[in-house]
Amino acid sequence: MTEKSIKKIEPAMKALPCLSRRSFLLAGTSATVVLAVGCAGISFREGTALKVVEYPRKRIASLKGIQAHEPIHFSYPEEGAAYDSFLVQLDGAAAGGVGVDDSIVAFNGTCTHMGGPLSGQYRSEHAVVGPCPLHLTTFDLRKHGMVVSGHGTETLPQVKLEIENGEIYATAVMGLIYGLDRNTVLERD
Ligand code: FES
Repeated sequence: MTEKSIKKIEPAMKALPCLSRRSFLLAGTSATVVLAVGCAGISFREGTALKVVEYPRKRIASLKGIQAHEPIHFSYPEEGAAYDSFLVQLDGAAAGGVGVDDSIVAFNGTCTHMGGPLSGQYRSEHAVVGPCPLHLTTFDLRKHGMVVSGHGTETLPQVKLEIENGEIYATAVMGLIYGLDRNTVLERD
């Protein structure tokens, strides 16, 4: 397998005043809450503070096969442990969500702190995944995987979803998957 050039990266911080992670951490608590909510509303569009990289489209599930709070596991954009991901239907709208009430979201399943496995850590009552079994980081699935507690500082990469004819497809990833130094499209020889 060889690396191919990056297919598409949307420019970060282009138009809207989302904060960089450094600025986010430097800002006061009240300011970060307000600004984080504001940024969550511009999911997968230009101006988002995180990079969105498009990958080959992959069918994940049928809409009619989704049951609320029952995660569906899949690999994206490639096969392998680093790409383990999950799709889940939350109660109510989520940033970047699709389907009924924009409630269906998908994320990479590896903790962005030091690679801990997040499988089995979905908590329906709070719409979070975590705590990570290694150092307890928890991610908010309604807010693009933002860290809400623990040692992690990087947002959990979100898988962009689209619906066509009742089928759910993964089409892109927002954020850097743990273990990669950049988002690339991998091409088989
Ligand atoms: S690896 Fe998940 S919190 Fe450290």
